[in-house]
This record gives sequence, structure tokens and C-alpha cells, in this order.
Amino acid sequence: MSNQDNVSELVQHINIKEGILGEKNFNTKMSALLRQAAAESIVLLENEGVLPLKANNKLAVFGRSQIDYFYVGYGSGGEVNPPYLVNVIQGLEEKDLLLNKVLIKKYQTFSANNIVEDGIWGQWPRFLEEMTLTNEEVKSASEDSEIALIVIGRAAGEDRENVLEEGSYYLTQKEKQMIDQVTHYFEKVILVINSGNVIDLSWTENYAFSAILFAWQGGMESGNAIADVLMGDVNPSAKLPDTIARHYEDYPSAKQFGHEEYVEYVEDIYVGYRYFETFHPEKVIYPFGYGLSYTQFAMDSELLVNDKSVTINVSVTNIGEMPGKEVVQVYHEPPQGKLGKPKRNLIEFQKTELLQPGETENLNFEIKLQDLASYDDSGVTGHPFSYVLEAGEYQFYVGDSLINLELVGNYHLEKLLVIQKLKQIAAPVENFNRLVATLEEGQLVETYQPVTLQKESVKERVLQHLESLSEVSSEETFLDTGKTVSELIHSFSKEELDALTRGEGPMNSSFGPKGNAGMFGGTIESLRQKGIPPVITTDGPAGIRLNYYASLLPCGTAFASTWNLELLEGIGIEFGKELLDLGSDMILAPGMNIHRNPLGGRNFEYFSEDPYLTGKMAASYVIGVQSNQVAACPKHFACNNQETNRNYNDSRVSERALREIYLKGFEICVKESNPYSIMSSYNKINGVWAHYHFDLATEILRNEWKYQGCILTDWWMRMAKDPNFEHVENNAYRVRAQVDILMPGGKDFVTKESDDSLIQSLEHLDGITLKEVQHSALNVLNLIQKIKG
Ligand code: BGC
Repeated sequence: MSNQDNVSELVQHINIKEGILGEKNFNTKMSALLRQAAAESIVLLENEGVLPLKANNKLAVFGRSQIDYFYVGYGSGGEVNPPYLVNVIQGLEEKDLLLNKVLIKKYQTFSANNIVEDGIWGQWPRFLEEMTLTNEEVKSASEDSEIALIVIGRAAGEDRENVLEEGSYYLTQKEKQMIDQVTHYFEKVILVINSGNVIDLSWTENYAFSAILFAWQGGMESGNAIADVLMGDVNPSAKLPDTIARHYEDYPSAKQFGHEEYVEYVEDIYVGYRYFETFHPEKVIYPFGYGLSYTQFAMDSELLVNDKSVTINVSVTNIGEMPGKEVVQVYHEPPQGKLGKPKRNLIEFQKTELLQPGETENLNFEIKLQDLASYDDSGVTGHPFSYVLEAGEYQFYVGDSLINLELVGNYHLEKLLVIQKLKQIAAPVENFNRLVATLEEGQLVETYQPVTLQKESVKERVLQHLESLSEVSSEETFLDTGKTVSELIHSFSKEELDALTRGEGPMNSSFGPKGNAGMFGGTIESLRQKGIPPVITTDGPAGIRLNYYASLLPCGTAFASTWNLELLEGIGIEFGKELLDLGSDMILAPGMNIHRNPLGGRNFEYFSEDPYLTGKMAASYVIGVQSNQVAACPKHFACNNQETNRNYNDSRVSERALREIYLKGFEICVKESNPYSIMSSYNKINGVWAHYHFDLATEILRNEWKYQGCILTDWWMRMAKDPNFEHVENNAYRVRAQVDILMPGGKDFVTKESDDSLIQSLEHLDGITLKEVQHSALNVLNLIQKIKG
């Protein structure tokens, strides 16, 4: 991104932030749900018996994040104006504890004298400088208080990665010093990590912490949630949605991350635990799916083999002494076959209700064989471009984390089964080597082999599509216009079609509440006269980003840590109501890209390293939100896995990894929740910008997955010519892919002028066809009908 781009983007976001309007009213039901979600998201990593705290425990709290808590990350997925914020001290003060007031006062004074502003776009603080404490001060605190609590805070944000530096991935010298001092003088030390991203935790192995909690960024109820968990008012039930490896260098994407021009996804499908479980379990400190409770559970599982599926019945009993919830996780281990496969793959999970001591809950899992299939993108199995089940044993494991699994049975498949024959789509056009698991002397070893390159050009697929494209026909009456959708579409002039397939222009539309992200639909007077209403969009994953007070939600990673689909749907329902109340029609959320690397600047907005967990979380949220007749807009489709040069970077990734990892979450979300809209990403995927990606938008989303909704660009797109068709560029190129709406509408964020490429292209015989534009118009009207009808 050029400097010019940065400056302009910055201006946009500053404009949005100016002034906060409205009453500080809030919905108590939402507050309660958010408190529950934040508490259910806190992962208990260690507990040597110090937790839960007891009434009247004497507690000394260290680390300035106790006051200056990071409630969320930065950028469009962060800037919400919450009606209130509860920090750690405020949360603890509500409990029956004897807090060390002298220390609190010191931190309060330090914090008041060292206010750190959020700063400008992309330059926000990743950490806050710690207060220096003398040994005497810590010693004296240890004489007054029996237990210490240390809070370490970190934040990341859009448009910038986290870095391998002190104050980002690593501890600062002052933090180290504080930890040294506190662990020296206190026998019992509880550590709380407040970060939206995974950070280095290798240093925790050098100290004897009595308890460690990963609290993520829990939104406006963070402090209450931490206090609830520390006191045992909520028994922790969170599980890690990401692997915490010992060293950054252990992550398989470590060397291929953050490059400017392109990034080769060399680790292929071996992302996160799929890599560690297959090749290096010893490099992990805390595995995916891991998290402790204050009680214990026993699981008893049986597996029944059916014709094309297996049924797993699990009974979960609370055998401890406190009520609690457990997450039952089901993984499968497929035969290695010719493709090579990860040793563990999450295939199902469910969270129990709150079980009383001695209480049992029975859970059932129906697993279709087809959901275990792998994609053969090279033809090594004899079935190129197909989902296949290779012959052999499919083993099923049940447990409460990757390190506590029991083999419950297997399914024996005699012969290879082709599940779905597809065509090669969106494969790499540049060669690179990708990781493959090969068996050598009974051991799985890491081997690198060239990716399979795209054979047939997209031009052929576009031509076939154009040939088969039908006339737009929909006999449904559009809103109260008295006209059918078809009649309306055929009545539109070229200018109106153009205006319907791009937003109004700027963000903060005067048609919506202050601070909105832009408007589409009735963008010009003549469209409005024909009965097309304006549709208002707002960010984002952490809450409704307007100049009005709105609930600040836990960050995406925190949500995923709850593994609680019902809860997320419930929050979605309340959230949709809030959206309606604030006058918006569409929320630009959830963010659902994969945590490919722990430094990813927007990881906090996204759910997990695992596509299944990601897809299920996103679907629950979308179902909840859309039950209010407003639209959700899952984003960013696809492979927005880094922020460096995000508008130009090319994600080079095999077709297999695309389908099994990076698109899988979207596939689950689309099929289970029918999001009314989807946002494309800024980056390129195998050489083509997402907003021009015919293969992703038309072939995969609409033709394969039968997606009926509308696709929006991320805010502004890169103008470019279609390399395959001379008179197709910019907006025409985008519509050709069936990316229906350019948002927020202007040509770029400097001029905000519209571009006439679509109308120009319609004039040429080999340009875009009227039918194609009408199809995008149809997608837009269908969306409007769903939310305004
Ligand atoms: C982000 C999107 C966001 C949009 C509107 C872009 O910078 O990538 O996620 O929804 O801005 O604010």
C-alpha cells in the first residue's frame, strides 16, 4: 500500500470516530450474555490448586493492564463506543476479596500520569509501558497479600502485523523484571494473558506460576468475566482455538509470512495442530482444544458404524465437586493413502450444559463419511480434482483436548471412494514446493513437493459461463413497488444498473446513522424513485462501529474459545436487535479468516486456526443476527491471512489447502446459515485479486456451494484490466466475477469518484454483457428483499 493510500484510509477512520452521540443505554440481556461469553472464553492453562480463589483471599495485582485493559484490538474490528468498560480491578472489587489497595493506588496514579492515546491508524500501541517497582515495594506487597496476580496486555490491529519484538510477541524488559520480582517474593502467582493474538509463552516454563489464564480480549465485560472465573462463580470451560507452540519458529508458516509481494503457503494443509500433531507434537506447550476446569469429567464413548456414516455416543459425567461445562471434541485420523493427511482433524464438537457434580449428559454425533474426504488436487489417487476417501482405516478419537483423546473405534473402507468430482479451480500459477506427509520406514516425514499448477485458463470457464447464463427472471413482487423483480431490473437504465452495483461513494452516508461504513441499494435519486431503498452497512466483528454507544463484544478468538455455538447464536440474536435499533441493515462481520500465523494483525478478529471451528462459530453467529431481518457479511473471502501490503499481496496456495483449510470455514458457514452477503478480501489469491476472482465468486461460491447471496468488495478495490478480455476492466471486471457491489462505491478513497468502466464496457461487443450486470442487480435486489421485505 502506498503512503497516499494509508493517509486516506486514516482520514476515513478518523472521520468515523469523531464525536459520540446518543444515550449510554444498554441492553442488560446483552450485557449478561457478553459477560458469560467473556467468562466462557478464558482458558485455564495451569492451576496448581490456587484457583478458585476463596472469600477474603488477600490479593495483590500487578501489571498496568489491570487498569488499562485491552478490551479488543484496533481498526474496523475494534473501534466501538461501548456504554461502559469493566477493567480487572473493577471486576475484582465486586468480589469478596481483600485487594491490596496501596498497589492499586500506585497503578492508578501511574496510569493517570502516563495516558497513552490509541494513536493514528496502523500505529496503535501494541503494549503499554510498565511501571517500575522497587524490590521493597513488591516485598511489602507480599507481606500484606498472600497471592499475586499479574496481568500482561497486548493488542494488535488491522493493516499491521504483530512483530517478533519485545512489546509484541515477546515480553518487554520491564515486564520481565516485574515477573521476576513478583515470583521472587510471592509463593502463589497467578498470570493472566490479555491478548487477542497468541504470544510467546515459552518463558512461563521458567517460572512456577500457580495458575495461568489466557483471557484474550473479552470486550466491555472483560473485568467481570475475569473476576467470575478467578472466584469460581464461573467454572472455566474454554478450550484453545489455536496451538501455542514453544517458539515462533516452530510454526510451519514462520518463514513464509509477512512478505511484501507474495506469500507461498508452503505448509499447505498442515496449519496449526494439523502440522504439530502430524510431525512435531513435542514443540507444543499448549495444544489446540486444551483448557482446564475446576472440576473433572469422565467420558464414556461408543461408536456405531452405519452404511455411509458413523454414530458416536458420548456420555459425559461431572466426577468432580463443582458444577461445570465440558467440550467434547471428536477428531478423526484418516489413512495416509497416497495423498498424505494430518493425523488429527476436528470433525465434531459439542459443549455440555452446566453439569452438577455427579450429573451426566449424553451427546450424539452423526458423522457422514463424505465429511472426512480429502481433495486430490494433483491426481495422485487417480482422481484429479475430486474429493476422495482413500481406502483404509478411519479412526475416531473423543476427548477434551488433543492431548487427552481416546480411540473409540474405526471405519474400515475397503476401496477408494470418490465423493465429489469437481474441476480444477483457482490453483497456483506460480510454482513452489508445498509440504506433504510421506511414510518412510513407518514414520511420517515432512517432504516438500511442487504444487500442481492451474492447467485450464479461467478464460475458458468464463466463456462457458457466459454461454449458459440465463435471462434474469424473478416473478416475485419487489417490496411495495407493485412490480416484479424482473420488471424492475429490465426497467433499469445502464446508469441505474451501474449505480445499483456499487455503493454510494463515501463512508458515513447521510442516509444512515453517523459513523456508518457506507450505503448501497438506492444510491441515486432515480433508483430511490423506483422504490429501491438505501441499505446501510456498519462494522464490525467487535460490535457496531458507529458514533453511538454500542455493545463491545469479546474478540473473535475469544468467541471461538467458548466452543459454545448456542451462546454465539444467542448473542447474534441480541446483536441483530441492536443493529436494527441503531438504524443499520448490515453488519460487516463475522471475520473468519484462518489463523495461519500467530503474528497475523487481524487474528483477534478471526476465530481459529481450524476451519471447522471457524465455520461452525460463524454459522451460529450469522443465524442469530439474521433472525432479525438484518444481514450479516462474513469476511474476508479469502486468504486474508496477513496485513503486510494487504491490498497487493498474493496468497499463493495449493487448491487442496484452499479447499480443505482456507475456504472450508466459509463453505460450512454458507451451507449452514445462508449469509445474505459476503465480503471479498483485499489480497490476491494465486495471482488474481479476490474482487475479480471468477473462480472463487462464481465457480466455487455460487456453482459449487449454491450460494444465493450478494458479494461485496472490501472497502475500495484495486483498479485493473481483465487480462483475458480487452474491454473489461475495473467495475466491469468485478461484475464479470459476480462480485456484485463495489463498496463504499467510489473509484478509490482519494477521489471517491465513480468510474465509468462498467458503462463503457457495455458498449463493446466483447465487453461485459447486460445479462451479467442484471444478474448482479438481481443479487442486490434479492438481498434488499430479504432485509426490507
Ligand atoms: C476492512 C473491512 C471493513 C471495512 C469497512 C476495511 O478496511 O478490511 O473489514 O469492514 O474496512 O470499514
